Amino acid sequence: MYTILRKQVLNREVTRMDILAPLVAAKAKAGQFIILRLDEFGERIPLTVAGTDTASGAVTIIYQKVGKTTFVLDELSEGDTLLDFVGPLGTPTHIVGVERAAVVGGGLGCAIAWPVAKALHAQGTEVDMIAGFRSKELVILESELAQASTRLHVCTDDGSYADRGFVTDKLKSLLDAGQRFDKVYAIGPLIMMKFVSRLTKEFGIPTLVSMNPIMVDGTGMCGCCRVTVGGKVKFACVDGPDFDGHEVDYDEAIRRSVAYKPFETQKLHACKLTGGVL
Ligand code: FAD
Ligand code: FES
Ligand code: MG
Repeated sequence: MYTILRKQVLNREVTRMDILAPLVAAKAKAGQFIILRLDEFGERIPLTVAGTDTASGAVTIIYQKVGKTTFVLDELSEGDTLLDFVGPLGTPTHIVGVERAAVVGGGLGCAIAWPVAKALHAQGTEVDMIAGFRSKELVILESELAQASTRLHVCTDDGSYADRGFVTDKLKSLLDAGQRFDKVYAIGPLIMMKFVSRLTKEFGIPTLVSMNPIMVDGTGMCGCCRVTVGGKVKFACVDGPDFDGHEVDYDEAIRRSVAYKPFETQKLHACKLTGGVL
């Protein structure tokens, strides 16, 4: 059993939890993820390792409430336990030898980008962190991202906070102003990663994107996490989750990501008496 040490609401959609999992904390690197199961009837869901504290054995996860399992997880409190918490899974993000990087996060993707920015910054890479959110009340991790970067650029789609516009607008303005990066890391909605990659291709900048397809076993056996990269089928759980952003077939990934939407919606019944999720 894995105890919830700390729970912090970051905004109305996103919560941070520290889970006691010393073996995962000892090994996890930026870009890796865990798969958890709430109880014996629960499904397995993958979540990125947002941080670790080897002294206390805590692993930080940051999740967005989007469906049944994340809503039920959010009903748990400090001191409650999770049945399974398996990891670290996946391949760590490639950061070696990168001197100047742009890390681009979209919404919840900023939580997944945070450990990547931290790891780059810790090795001495000059990091421009571009963090985009739909609006002011959805901004998360601002001070953490500032600490993990050389320069933090926050933007909101509606202009309610910081600069108005998409992360691609900010990245383009930096590139047009003559900034150059050895590598761009883009993490967020598929459509955002598609357009960041299109832009960086024009400028010839190698780009890594973090793919989050449906995963079940997380160890390369079920085939659910297929993505097509450079015309070849890859399994995001073992070959990724990071891939060359210029080679990913985004349109296929977008189609696959909504394949089970009708079933997931059926699972999400809000209880009219308690407001909870059944
Ligand atoms: P559902 O209603 O079941 O699904 C909502 C949407 O979530 C689906 O349309 C689908 O796109 C996605 N999803 C559902 N089940 C899975 C699954 N088994 N595997 C992958 N995606 C699924 N989310 C976070 O909030 N924070 C993270 O740090 C994070 N890291 C991830 C890392 C990886 C490697 C992957 C593959 C996904 C990550 N996700 C993360 C997405 C997260 O796994 C899904 O949001 C979660 O599984 C939704 O479950 P649900 O039952 O609450 O919602
Ligand atoms: Fe099963 Fe990747 S999740 S092969
Ligand atoms: Mg689900």
